Amino acid sequence: MASLATSQPADRIPAVMRAIDPPGPGGPEVLELHERPVPTPGPGEVLISVHAAGVNRPDILQRLGLYPMPPGAPSIPGLEVAGEVVALGEGVTRLRVGDPVTALVLGGGYAEYAVAPEGTCLPVPPGMRFAEAAGLPETYFTVWANLFGLGQAKAGDWVLVHGGTSGIGTTAIDLARLFDLRIIVTCGSEAKCAAARTVGATHAIDYNARDFAAEVRELTGGRGVDVVLDMVGGDYVPRNLVCLAEGGRHVSIAFQRGARAEVDIGLVMRRRLVLTGSMLRPRDVAFKAKVAQELLEKVWPAFADGRLKARLDKTFPLAEAAAAHRYMESGRHVGKIVLVVRD
Ligand SMILES: NC(=O)c1ccc[n+]([C@@H]2O[C@H](COP(=O)([O-])OP(=O)(O)OC[C@H]3O[C@@H](n4cnc5c(N)ncnc54)[C@H](OP(=O)(O)O)[C@@H]3O)[C@@H](O)[C@H]2O)c1
Repeated sequence: MASLATSQPADRIPAVMRAIDPPGPGGPEVLELHERPVPTPGPGEVLISVHAAGVNRPDILQRLGLYPMPPGAPSIPGLEVAGEVVALGEGVTRLRVGDPVTALVLGGGYAEYAVAPEGTCLPVPPGMRFAEAAGLPETYFTVWANLFGLGQAKAGDWVLVHGGTSGIGTTAIDLARLFDLRIIVTCGSEAKCAAARTVGATHAIDYNARDFAAEVRELTGGRGVDVVLDMVGGDYVPRNLVCLAEGGRHVSIAFQRGARAEVDIGLVMRRRLVLTGSMLRPRDVAFKAKVAQELLEKVWPAFADGRLKARLDKTFPLAEAAAAHRYMESGRHVGKIVLVVRD
């Protein structure tokens, strides 16, 4: 600990903390609270006293043992936190002890302390509560890197995003509004479609009641959309491709209906379509830091001036992480679910 700068005498940072650390894969009941050692920030990392941690669908896949864990990821779940920097690892230059930050982490968010690379920390926007800020990084990094990065979405484009009320979906709607995209979303019920329209979707289609592919072509005057951000996969892929305009981009971020799909190569050739996709978690720190910098410059100012806000649906205490997962699995949320670690 000799190389660490800390906010307080080192004896004020405890040796152990409360953390959710499942003994193995399983249902929500494996999300047990345990005492675990407080992690030490390595070079270029900071230690955060976590006030709140976001819950994301990948956490559920991890809990079920279905997520390919990147090397070095802690068994404690949680991909995003908000809190106060309490110690600096060697070589940290920008952040100071006491800074309120929201951070993308490799794992370990469901805990009283977590380490994050300095480069994946962003300031808590002015006036925003930790519980709101904790739900920003995972979806903002993902939507930015996929819809605007790989998908190359720009002002005036039409985009189609499935899961319109999900954390990813509501973030996509907010960013689409900010950057003047026309966004069509799909949802599993009319009530969720209404919620997505309230968030700001240009159109919302109840995929259980309507054929989304036919409707997308109609809504775009037969032209199709420029980008599909797809979290469904499987049999959605050929239907998504039908929705794309000439030169359109199909960006996969999940495959809830299966990793295999049948693709009409003729359609890809005739319309010069691009099929791509990505996973954020295994990307290196340099990539994530680049995304963070872009978000800081192009998106974070919109939180400060009120054009963007956090989409917090519900909070649960850390000890009730199992209830938070059950709630996410029920699919009743609109936006983000967050664990409150310290009041
Ligand atoms: N690639 C990456 O780097 C990355 C990063 C973060 C998240 N993700 C993925 O993005 C997705 C959303 O994550 P999240 O945390 O925002 O989750 P979430 O809030 O739980 O949302 C999941 C969404 O999936 C929709 N859905 C589920 N089954 C569906 C189906 N069969 N057909 C159509 N829609 C379906 C649900 O919408 P309805 O209830 O309306 O059906 C729900 O809105 C997850 O699949 C997650 O794994 C990927």
